[in-house]
Amino acid sequence: MEQKPPPHVMVFPLPLQGPLNAMLKLAELLCIGGIQITFLVTDHIHRHFNIQTHPAFLIRTISDGLPENHPREGGKYLEMFESLRTNTRPLFKELLLQSGAGGGSPISCVIADGVLGFTFDVANEVGIPIFDVRTLSAACLWLFYSLPKLITSRELPFIGDDLDEMVKSVPGMGRYLRRRDLPSFCRSGDLDDPSIRFYQTETIENPRACGLILNTFEELEAPILAEMHNVCPNIYAVGPLHAHLKAKLAAFPNSLWEEDRSCLTWLDSQPLKSVLYLSFGSLATLSRYQLMEFWHGLVNSGQRFLWVIRPDSVDWEGRIPVELSQGAAAKEKGYIVGWAPQVEVLAHPAVGGFLTHSGWNSTLESVYEGVPMICWPYFLDQQINSRLVGEEWKLGFDMKDTCDRNVIEETVRNLMQVRKEEFLRRADEMAKSAKASLSEGGSSYSHLDRLIQDIKTKSAQVGKFE
Ligand code: UDX
Repeated sequence: MEQKPPPHVMVFPLPLQGPLNAMLKLAELLCIGGIQITFLVTDHIHRHFNIQTHPAFLIRTISDGLPENHPREGGKYLEMFESLRTNTRPLFKELLLQSGAGGGSPISCVIADGVLGFTFDVANEVGIPIFDVRTLSAACLWLFYSLPKLITSRELPFIGDDLDEMVKSVPGMGRYLRRRDLPSFCRSGDLDDPSIRFYQTETIENPRACGLILNTFEELEAPILAEMHNVCPNIYAVGPLHAHLKAKLAAFPNSLWEEDRSCLTWLDSQPLKSVLYLSFGSLATLSRYQLMEFWHGLVNSGQRFLWVIRPDSVDWEGRIPVELSQGAAAKEKGYIVGWAPQVEVLAHPAVGGFLTHSGWNSTLESVYEGVPMICWPYFLDQQINSRLVGEEWKLGFDMKDTCDRNVIEETVRNLMQVRKEEFLRRADEMAKSAKASLSEGGSSYSHLDRLIQDIKTKSAQVGKFE
């Protein structure tokens, strides 16, 4: 009898560090589950990323249609999406149609970031099943789904400027959602704002896929996931992906910046749970004023700290502040690096708190390691992630919309000293539940099994696959 090849999935991530990391981990998990993977990245990502993956991976590249010197972030990120939609779409279709032509097995299934709405159309046109992935919190995705409701109920655009006013028309969030916790683009006051239009349109496409894969776990976002089932009946909550992969196999680090591992040696010499770790992820930028407020707040708190300051994250205005360049008062208590091995840092016994921009990966990594947080969100989903941390999960403080050295000093003291035991206890409970979700029979473990099975079934329907 003819031996049938395994299902062959093309994975197409969003070309940004956070989403790319999460998708790599998902792809590696599927590989372990017996699925052949072709991982599709833009030429730009391929040039800047050192992707070391599972030996079974095939990496293919595709143009994003932009010149190399285009920033692809900040105020220009919508230009990247537009270019992907218009320039990359025909290339993507060609890739799918040509797959298998030069030997090897053809693509039997696509897994794409759900924000790349054009991939649904292309997959449908060529008759290949597609699953979509969103790498943000379920909570943020639920807010995107709720944008039309917010508009018809006249909660958007805001009337008046009170950001503490409660938002009532998002099912499941009425107890804690304020205007300031909505994605940052909701503050523009203009329904024609390109971001509002973009997220509304692209999210509506999601239920067209065979299923929605999320980097979360049921126990963490149960009330939101219950609401989302009304719109997307088939959800696979398989996170936290970084730990899920680690549970099955050693993870492969991938990063745009080189990790400075000397901070781990420094942590080794610090007392248990004494260090506050600070990082604002891979996209956020700080003004010189904000940087100095954090610096003084930290130093005045007297707390030990490990701080990631990405070389491109601060507008130095031509010179590095003398306080930082000399290390001054913090020499003993503080350590600064350009990029850290974050997952290892959060798992280190000396780390007792995390001052974060509330990116979804960072949030999940902190939850998994049982590290309480101070949240200082930068944009988009980070506004709601930080609210969940502070109000829904009680894992720390939400310090959004303020950058004042006195507030920072007091909040750091509160997290690391005054209410330390309470937050550590709560974080420990949450970490245990995250770990349980990944063990055999746990929620994420079972969702992944079901996903692999469904990919196999759908692939078999396409044709000559196992
Ligand atoms: C963001 C967020 O995912 C999302 O909230 C937002 O909408 C768009 O993209 P990013 O700023 O990169 O991405 O944050 P995050 O999701 O937290 O990812 C950062 C990743 O970089 C984490 O996996 C973290 O472990 C890693 N990291 C960060 C390091 O490895 N070293 C560092 O020094 C800092």
